[in-house]
Amino acid sequence: MSLIERLSLEPTGEMSMENNREEAIAILNRLVELELAGAVRYTQYSLMIFGHARIPIMHWMRQQASEALAHAAEAGEEVTALGGRVSLGIAELAGTHHATVDEILQELVLHERRGIELYRQLLKLAEGWSVSLEEFARTKIRGEETHLAEIEKMLRRRGDA
Ligand SMILES: [Fe+2]
Repeated sequence: MSLIERLSLEPTGEMSMENNREEAIAILNRLVELELAGAVRYTQYSLMIFGHARIPIMHWMRQQASEALAHAAEAGEEVTALGGRVSLGIAELAGTHHATVDEILQELVLHERRGIELYRQLLKLAEGWSVSLEEFARTKIRGEETHLAEIEKMLRRRGDA
């Protein structure tokens, strides 16, 4: 038996591929849940903005809500592309009303960081295994990190320049 034939009989390669697939489905499902929670959260917070800057902040939040919903659907499409079942759950929702826009934004920073962490896990898993998922994760990390930087800039005070 040739080395190549012997290697192809060894189950380790296929098994680790199967493990990767299952782990990827699990991470993607957590992303579906998190992005859905984000869509709800941004919508709720967009209804709590008052004062001078209400209009732009409200619009920005509604836009983020739509984006999070689109991201949830995209992650869900990846789950089914891998042959998995999409989670019907939703991640934890905030149970408190915030007193200030700063408080809302600080909570959103934490939320966005959680998302980036999951996309990073997905990237790590996909590397050397699935170029397609790798690309998906990279694009999302870039988008979410840009978005996070934007929120952090919003949290700076005028004159912080
Ligand atoms: Fe997102």
